[in-house]
Amino acid sequence: MLKQKIDNIINAIESIEVESIYGRVSAVRGLIVEATGLYNQCSIGSYCEIMTNHSSTPISAEVVGIKNDVVLVMPFQNTTGIALGSPVKAVSGIHTIYPNVTWMGRVIDAFGNPIDGKGPLINGNKKCNLHNTPPQANTRKRVGKKINIGIRAINTFLSCCEGQRMGIFSGSGVGKSMMMAMITKFSDIEVKVIGLIGERGREVQEFIEDYLGKEGLAKAIVVVATSDESALIRRQAAYTTLTLAEYFRDLGTDVLCMMDNLTRFAMAQREIGLAAGEPPTTKGYPPSVFSILPKLLERAGPGQKNQGSITGLFSVLVENDDTNEPIADTVRGILDGHIVLDRKIARKGIYPAIDVLGSVSRTMPRCNTDAENILINKARYLISTYDEMSDMIRIGAYKKGSDPEVDDAIKYHQNLNNFISQNFNDHETLDSSYSKLAKAIE
Ligand SMILES: Nc1ncnc2c1ncn2[C@@H]1O[C@H](COP(=O)(O)OP(=O)(O)OP(=O)(O)O)[C@@H](O)[C@H]1O
Ligand SMILES: [Mg+2]
Repeated sequence: MLKQKIDNIINAIESIEVESIYGRVSAVRGLIVEATGLYNQCSIGSYCEIMTNHSSTPISAEVVGIKNDVVLVMPFQNTTGIALGSPVKAVSGIHTIYPNVTWMGRVIDAFGNPIDGKGPLINGNKKCNLHNTPPQANTRKRVGKKINIGIRAINTFLSCCEGQRMGIFSGSGVGKSMMMAMITKFSDIEVKVIGLIGERGREVQEFIEDYLGKEGLAKAIVVVATSDESALIRRQAAYTTLTLAEYFRDLGTDVLCMMDNLTRFAMAQREIGLAAGEPPTTKGYPPSVFSILPKLLERAGPGQKNQGSITGLFSVLVENDDTNEPIADTVRGILDGHIVLDRKIARKGIYPAIDVLGSVSRTMPRCNTDAENILINKARYLISTYDEMSDMIRIGAYKKGSDPEVDDAIKYHQNLNNFISQNFNDHETLDSSYSKLAKAIE
């Protein structure tokens, strides 16, 4: 009780503004506002407020660059109303949120404000920095035990462990969001934090109401920044998502942190970086994109002693179905596994359209028992044998009986497809997933 009072007093003192120092707008170039007179007042990533003649509410902005004595700031909203000479105030201390366990079941924006019309949020006592750094590698626990993801093909072929970080890679419209919704509803992990970054506005409602439903939402906090919001807000929503996951991890809870999708986060940073004057590299992505991706993703993972873990599932939109494009390539190198969804499989009506052979979980086979590994290897072998021979089989060039292994692959092909297909409303456990796979190829 006393500690809480002291914490409240400390928070109140920290939020008192000691002095206000103003600079002036000297130019506006596209998305960037240049301000002078803020010498030694602003650092990269700190916030400013720009006063306008149009409204008494200032425009919030973030410092994204510094050039000689000019500070380059990028407004969170549009630049309408900003004039030459408009005052720019350096603000401190708003990089933080005060999460609370009562935020479960709520939908919030990148700043931690509620956007679900269910009334105000109750703030907690702990100040959480949106730009937190991950725990030091040598103080982190190892990846924990296998978890139930709720999808049988992932539970078996692509086991995911506590604190593991996986990517879900696919082109547009192949089923990333629906898979994330299934995982939110069916996974055993008690707390889920979902970041919807740069999605279409229509999709957000669809995701929350149709895909997640009341049951799924009750187990999650959803952070939303739609595609029409500024790049700064979209990027910040990703940071807010991880900050919330860290809050629960520090309470000792195991968290599932999901982001749909990481490519939009990279695109937001591309907009910010290019506007701030960085040079473009591959596909126009500036160098900063490739340095902030690992910083963000490393925040997920196992916690330290007495902390919970953050299991991360990040969807990656693969442009033109090219899995070697720069963001997909970089993310694949950082994460501990990737689940590839294939348009060809989806076209056959097999959902979730998991390409078992193209996907990898890097905690396997260590997390499995010998019996489980034998089962998985046998099933994979059957799938790959069929895959190699599929053209021959289809045109009738393969004669039954010529090769017993191919005969087996043909025999079990439909069973394995049925195993991978999982109805959107069907839920699996780890045990039922393994027993169904064993039955499919027995
Ligand atoms: N498990 C499923 N069962 C049945 N249909 C599915 C399933 N998953 C995806 N689909 C079909 O694929 C469509 C696209 O799915 P989804 O919105 O999840 O794709 P996405 O990869 O998130 O797309 P985008 O890249 O545009 O965000 C759905 O509208 C649905 O028709
Ligand atoms: Mg989607």
